[in-house]
Amino acid sequence: MDVLHAISEMRGWSRTAGTGNRSLALVPTMGCLHAGHLALVRMARQSADHVVVSNFVNPLQFGPSEDYARYPRDLDRDNRLCREAGVDAVFVPDAGDMYPAGASVVVEETRVSSGLCGRMRPGHFRGVATVVAKLFNIVQPDLAVFGRKDAQQVRVIQRLVQDLDFPVRILVHPIVREPDGLAMSSRNVYLSPSERSRALCIRRALEAARVLFESGERAAGVLEPCVGEVLAVGRPDVVEYATVVDWDTLEPAGQIMRPCLLAVAVRFGRTRLIDNILLDPLNPAGIEPV
Ligand code: PAJ
Repeated sequence: MDVLHAISEMRGWSRTAGTGNRSLALVPTMGCLHAGHLALVRMARQSADHVVVSNFVNPLQFGPSEDYARYPRDLDRDNRLCREAGVDAVFVPDAGDMYPAGASVVVEETRVSSGLCGRMRPGHFRGVATVVAKLFNIVQPDLAVFGRKDAQQVRVIQRLVQDLDFPVRILVHPIVREPDGLAMSSRNVYLSPSERSRALCIRRALEAARVLFESGERAAGVLEPCVGEVLAVGRPDVVEYATVVDWDTLEPAGQIMRPCLLAVAVRFGRTRLIDNILLDPLNPAGIEPV
């Protein structure tokens, strides 16, 4: 496995890897890899000849009071996990190379990024769209894999690719969970033992909504309060949102007549956790259990 730091090195590697019509998949990450990331790598391997994982804690997507400085980093472990997972190359750029002094262009999605996490984290999706556009330009992948754990991020990237004509196919992997149902996240390591067990209210709340939906309930005005009640049992410090939105527009849905997303963001202490389920009225029994 190659570990590449310079942008020019990465470009050269991709050019060679792509000869003879061989396809290339990119899995963008911020490192601190867990089984969720590795599931994305497996999906990438099944879908392309070569797999590149980028490992870059992107300063542009963190707000001034967020956890950029203390975001967990362990490059040696990440590289070992990538090697074991059959990754062909890891791209680990320097922040100074990605954002040299004087850089003044950003990429901003203006619709699906405005609600949910976008409202709570101004500038976050601008940072995500900008870094992903740069990674696509540098790595030149044929496809890229993202996790539905970050559902709004998926919609932003899908819009980015569609609206700016990136020739990159976006694959979406379902949410990978701990055995007790907590969605895997690099930020779970911040949780105290008490917060960790209280955080199970998230999966219980989503599961309660899923059961209601499966039994025929289609009103967001019924599902949302139910989610709120179950969340409250875990006494999160803040419930930022627990909302049903249209999957396409990410705008609030009244009645679930089209595929919708039930998305939740809560804070335990300083730790922010997000989770979601897709609610598809055309396939109500096919919704993955939480
Ligand atoms: P990061 O949080 O490291 O996540 C990298 C990828 O792994 C994302 O596509 C994310 O949705 C996916 N992922 C994380 N936890 C997951 C889980 N439990 N199940 C399924 N997929 C999961 O997301 C980012 O980094 C950054 O914003 C990035 C896209 C790399 C841009 O900087």
